[in-house]
Amino acid sequence: MKIRSIASYLAVSVCLAPVAVKAQWSDQSVRERADALLKQMTLEEKAGQLNQASGVSLQGAIKEVSDDAVANGQVGSILWQVDVKEINRLQHVAVDRSRLHIPLLVGFDVIHGYRTVFPVPLAMASSWDPSVEERAQRVAAEDSRAAGIQWTFAPMVDIARDARWGRIVESAGEDPYLGSAMARAQVLGFQGTELSPTSLLACAKHFAGYGAADGGRDYDSSYVPEELLRNLYLIPFHAAVKQGAGSLMSAYMDLNDVPASGNRWLLHDVLRQEWAFQGFVVSDAMAVGNLVTHGFAADREDAAYRAITAGLNMDMASNTLIENVPKLVASGRVTASQLDDAVRPILEMKIRLGLFEHPFVDETKVDSVLNRQSSRELERKLAARSMVLLRNQNHTLPLTTSLKKVALIGPLANSVTDLEGGWTVEGLFGGGPKSHVVTVEEGLRNKLRANAQITVVSGPALRREYPSPLDALLGKKPTPVPAPAEVEESLHRAVDAAKQSDIVIAVMGEASDMSGEGASRATLDLPGNQEQMLEAVVATGKPVVLVLVNGRQLDIRWATEHVPAILEAWFPGTIGGDAVADVLFSDVNPGGKLPVSWPRAAGQEPIYYNHNLTHEPEDRPNFTSRYWDLSSKPLYPFGYGLSYTTFQFGHLQLSKTQIKSGETTEVSVDVTNTGQTAGDAVVQIYIHQRAGLASRPVRQLKGFRRVALAPGKTQTLTFLLGPDELSFWSPQVKSWNVDPATFDVWAGEDSTAPLHAELQVTAK
Ligand code: NOJ
Repeated sequence: MKIRSIASYLAVSVCLAPVAVKAQWSDQSVRERADALLKQMTLEEKAGQLNQASGVSLQGAIKEVSDDAVANGQVGSILWQVDVKEINRLQHVAVDRSRLHIPLLVGFDVIHGYRTVFPVPLAMASSWDPSVEERAQRVAAEDSRAAGIQWTFAPMVDIARDARWGRIVESAGEDPYLGSAMARAQVLGFQGTELSPTSLLACAKHFAGYGAADGGRDYDSSYVPEELLRNLYLIPFHAAVKQGAGSLMSAYMDLNDVPASGNRWLLHDVLRQEWAFQGFVVSDAMAVGNLVTHGFAADREDAAYRAITAGLNMDMASNTLIENVPKLVASGRVTASQLDDAVRPILEMKIRLGLFEHPFVDETKVDSVLNRQSSRELERKLAARSMVLLRNQNHTLPLTTSLKKVALIGPLANSVTDLEGGWTVEGLFGGGPKSHVVTVEEGLRNKLRANAQITVVSGPALRREYPSPLDALLGKKPTPVPAPAEVEESLHRAVDAAKQSDIVIAVMGEASDMSGEGASRATLDLPGNQEQMLEAVVATGKPVVLVLVNGRQLDIRWATEHVPAILEAWFPGTIGGDAVADVLFSDVNPGGKLPVSWPRAAGQEPIYYNHNLTHEPEDRPNFTSRYWDLSSKPLYPFGYGLSYTTFQFGHLQLSKTQIKSGETTEVSVDVTNTGQTAGDAVVQIYIHQRAGLASRPVRQLKGFRRVALAPGKTQTLTFLLGPDELSFWSPQVKSWNVDPATFDVWAGEDSTAPLHAELQVTAK
């Protein structure tokens, strides 16, 4: 079958380079307008702008905002309300009834789409194509603004090195270079090059170090030395700030014993002084009040004092600032100008978003925007572009449409609720329809039409042993433990279906609530009875294709040894079923690559490719740092992914093999499609500094590009290696420097690429 290149689906890639947007912040008229408002505001009204209240009531745990509070100017922003009528109604209360007519800023977690839900962020990062993120988030922005939401709590730019941590699904994975590219693309997609009445205000979160939680447990403390913060965790945040992200969210956890929401070093010294950030910082939900729970602030008044003097602007849902800031200013502990500095950027963002001129949305137009067919078509393309082919023995894939009998097994084969992953706006508080989701079963039926007989055996529903925070909050009943007889019966049916079929497609992985917030895991096994079912169908001797639907790397050692083909589809989004079928049947040649190292077992976590060398690297014979019962190497390396074609790399050259510190050289490399079909290669450039002021990672990604190549075609790609790529923050000199040193340079298709060159950097 002829494989259509993804390039034929996608228009020429949109601008990927950082787009300069900083100028907008110096716009004098915005500042003057905000200051003019500030002059008219009372102390209470100013404190009101710092207050973000819940738009809904959550099981008594969180009260919904009152009209009086809005009318009295005690609320600057609302969240968790997605009913457009109610949003407009509350906005009318703010604009018509409050003294200064300041509109509300309406925020929500539009993480990967609104009604059309795009692949989860970890999947989009697997595309190694920032235009995927940018295009998806542009649609999310258009949909959100049409539905009355003007601010998203995204992108999440936390570096995630540990698959046990549930929120890895919301991240771009483990690498700061890839993560920065994805952060920039998302900010650009949400906001455009300038905030306007059509932009969605971005919020880079969770500032900072949240992904380094002890043991991968969500919310647990992070201990990250300054050199690692600066060389790793802060990098995508800085990229988002440079791209113009108008807001940041402070993280929940203690960072080196100081909670992030009261951490002046982070929120003031780094963010405002060093990075000149002009936007505002919102806390994570309840995080200001929780400064007391942490054992950091003595009481709520102290929490408010610490947050505001640390540089935090807005309190998400804990009411701590609104209750205490007027007192703190009246008593002189917080100065009037400190308060004005906290309020001003919030007003400026409202001005830039055009809220004063366009506070309401046209409710009659919402559905036509949200149901755009073009968004669904785009979703399908981006989902296919994000999938990673992990294994393909004996050309098991692609499948042909002449298949007559297919056994489709596993709990995710026909799941409507799991394909979109977590953070689906309507699924969360709107209780919205999932009827627009295309399941994997539907995708296969759409592809095979009536020609094939598809027998579906899904088996027992997946269940968490401990309820998800949201289910607990919304009072949802837990899924019951399947009875042993039900498990037995489903195994028999799966085996029978396999025996009577030409091929088995197993769709397995995680339910959508098994990754995300409050969804950390101690093991990485396929949950429930899935592995048992997989082993049973493999034992029939029929060819098996495993399609993984999940939000993190799983322990698939058994599958890697026994299942000939494995496709990582992640949570592929609304049209995910069609996208899976597109890849399985080669309408799209898979080109995604892993944005994370894939562990063999949970015990290897955290595992990441950009680690330092030990004094006895693993390939030495003795005293190495490996485990005695398992290799320390990943099952699949960072950057890895197969294609239905093959690529060869050659002619790695540097324009200058010797440069002075501060200078730049150009790296070029040829990539050739050596197979029979068109496909996408992701060319990756890695470096290693051999000696210097500090030990440096064994490899670091410093350039990548996804290119579409026809069979037999060669393309030469060039990348720059200059101060941005060669420098690192040294704890010895407390600054960024390019060390005079020898650098290794590699080019290829994953982080183990062998093609090598050398670069000498001499002193200035
Ligand atoms: C808590 C989460 O940590 C954060 O990511 C999210 O944006 C807020 N809740 C608001 O829903």
